[in-house]
Amino acid sequence: MADMSVDFCGVKFKNPIIVASAEPSNSVLNIKKCIDNGASGVVVKTIGDIPAFRELTKNSKYAILNDKTRPIKGKVPRSFTFYSRSGYISQDHKEWIPILKETQEYALKNGSHVIGNVTGGTLASWVELARMTEDCGVSMLEINLQHAAPPELADRARGIYIAQDPEMTAEITRRVVEAVKIPVMVKLSPEAMSLTEIARAAQGAGAASVCVNSRFKGFATDIETGKPYLGGPAGVGGPWVKPITLRWVQEIYSQLGMPIAGSNGIYDGRDAIEFLMTGARVMQVCSILMLKGIEWLPRMIKEVEEFMDSHGYPDIDSLYGISARQSAGSLAELFKAPRLVVDIDRNKCAYPKCNACTRMCFYDVMKPGDAQINIEGEKCIGCHLCENTCPMDAISLHPRD
Ligand SMILES: Cc1cc2nc3c(=O)[nH]c(=O)nc-3n(C[C@H](O)[C@H](O)[C@H](O)COP(=O)(O)O)c2cc1C
Repeated sequence: MADMSVDFCGVKFKNPIIVASAEPSNSVLNIKKCIDNGASGVVVKTIGDIPAFRELTKNSKYAILNDKTRPIKGKVPRSFTFYSRSGYISQDHKEWIPILKETQEYALKNGSHVIGNVTGGTLASWVELARMTEDCGVSMLEINLQHAAPPELADRARGIYIAQDPEMTAEITRRVVEAVKIPVMVKLSPEAMSLTEIARAAQGAGAASVCVNSRFKGFATDIETGKPYLGGPAGVGGPWVKPITLRWVQEIYSQLGMPIAGSNGIYDGRDAIEFLMTGARVMQVCSILMLKGIEWLPRMIKEVEEFMDSHGYPDIDSLYGISARQSAGSLAELFKAPRLVVDIDRNKCAYPKCNACTRMCFYDVMKPGDAQINIEGEKCIGCHLCENTCPMDAISLHPRD
């Protein structure tokens, strides 16, 4: 059986599936339930001292949208959007001292870890909250920078989130890293210009890792009523966002080599494998647990294990970054590949019933003839569109002579 354990920033996790900071980690009951269901770690919902974000959570709103961005009731398809608005933990941060202690004790007894997650209203409170969390014995600390700058940095903020600015990210990361001994993970926002540059700033300031990444903010309208769903902008995410997240996982893994927790777009164990291959060492999952329940975790973990066993991967390191390392670093490298030309297996081709390739070829190569598709091979640039979409699997590409 494959060894699913993974070293992440010097902390040993029994498997790569961690519960992300959100509603499934907002109480003793839920955190213990995540641990009971096999999570190797639980990042607690953000603890902070910003009153507006505490209030926001009391007014949380959630909906599941389908691929037409309409609310779904009942069975959820894989192509869902989780649409939601919530803030951070509503209680005073000090009320979380006994909760963190109790849940971390429970986690360690059960081979798991509690990871703190804090946000400060001022630079001083970032430090205070980080120390408070560390003193409760948690294994790691994540910092959540997805909101306005504290007053001390307001002149630099220019209306953007802390997580959108490398300098503000570095400043807060440095203060937190200096204040605690446990590894610090910086949670990146997908709404930054370059997540790699934010990660670089965090790394330079001493962060042990980055979480790539939290969610986008979106807007969806009910066109029957002309009103926005949930009353206004809300967070969006779902399995469709995975390639966007993985783009940054791959880039940060390749350029900075720092340990990454992948988050945003993970539905099942196969997604987790894809994140591992792209350069994440652990995964943080949220939306799917809010839709399927915390009981979804064992299934996900089992899927990872079964995939590793059936494909002969003995341990997490044998998967880690294997796809990222095969990605061409530049367009010049991609262009070194041999030139290709299209060919059709006439026995498989269903023309004239199907003429998909003639409609999709924008290089005037695939031409509808009387009885068959005619190919003007000298015009083919080997783009793969016809091969990748042919419903009859009749098209292949070969190196040019
Ligand atoms: C309802 C909801 C609440 C969330 N609350 C927090 C939070 O308090 N702190 C935080 O750092 N991230 C929060 N997140 C972001 C998640 O931790 C996670 O990074 C994100 O949802 C992407 O993972 P997913 O695709 O599995 O949902 C929240 C997400 C959702 C959907």
